[in-house]
Amino acid sequence: MSVHNDIKRVTSHTLQWMKENGEKISMLTAYDYSMARILDDAGIDVLLVGDSASNVMAGHETTLPITLDQMIYHAQSVVRAIHRCLVVVDLPFGSYQGNSKEALNSSIRIMKEAGAHAIKLEGGVEVMESVKRIISAGVPVMGHLGLTPQSIYKFGTYTVRAKEEEEAETLLKNAHALQEAGCFSLVLEKIPAKLGKQVSDELKIPVIGIGAGSQVDGQVLVMHDMLGITKDFSPRFLRRYLNLYDEIKGATEQYIKDVKSKDFPNEKEQY
Ligand code: KIV
Repeated sequence: MSVHNDIKRVTSHTLQWMKENGEKISMLTAYDYSMARILDDAGIDVLLVGDSASNVMAGHETTLPITLDQMIYHAQSVVRAIHRCLVVVDLPFGSYQGNSKEALNSSIRIMKEAGAHAIKLEGGVEVMESVKRIISAGVPVMGHLGLTPQSIYKFGTYTVRAKEEEEAETLLKNAHALQEAGCFSLVLEKIPAKLGKQVSDELKIPVIGIGAGSQVDGQVLVMHDMLGITKDFSPRFLRRYLNLYDEIKGATEQYIKDVKSKDFPNEKEQY
């Protein structure tokens, strides 16, 4: 059975229902009004205003530079567009690691100023106090383990995480701890499929993967990668559904030709 067309609004309870009934959760990133509107109309379950905006919208090499104000701007644009999906917003680097009061204040700003439905943050035990404090204020929290891009300078590389037993065990412990703390779901990024399945089997809350295999409860991709707007990023887990880079480039080249040749505008395209 699918709730796809039957519900008016996706909530954290809908995601829990989906897990319990074996319906996979679809999630994509979005950062602006026009794209969010299309993705929501298509029936996406969750839109993540990811801090990957730092890469795909602002052109930074990492997710670290994006600010809380910039995340709120992106989130406001997305929230204005949607009617059905759940909107989750990333707490950006530097807006929650300091202490749990700072984490709570950043979360409250996102909920109040953007009208988001939930926040996501990266990490396990090290952010547990913040997770608990945010949830106790009534803000739903999505966890994020595995490859956590805000710690890229600690990892030193974007390769698959938790291949070794010790790191896999730590990840499992953190996943359970995030569930115990009250997270409503968890993102697992770039880990072995076997570990993704184990986490999903052991946890009651929905586990959404990006490069975490097929046996988790849902999938998330960065919208620019999935639509082929980005060209140079081709990890194994990415399926491209369009090649918009070439499509947009081709259309732009044609437009330039038409302007230069005075073909555009024609008789019917003017007053
Ligand atoms: O910021 C982002 O796009 C993310 C996804 C990769 C899950 O956190």
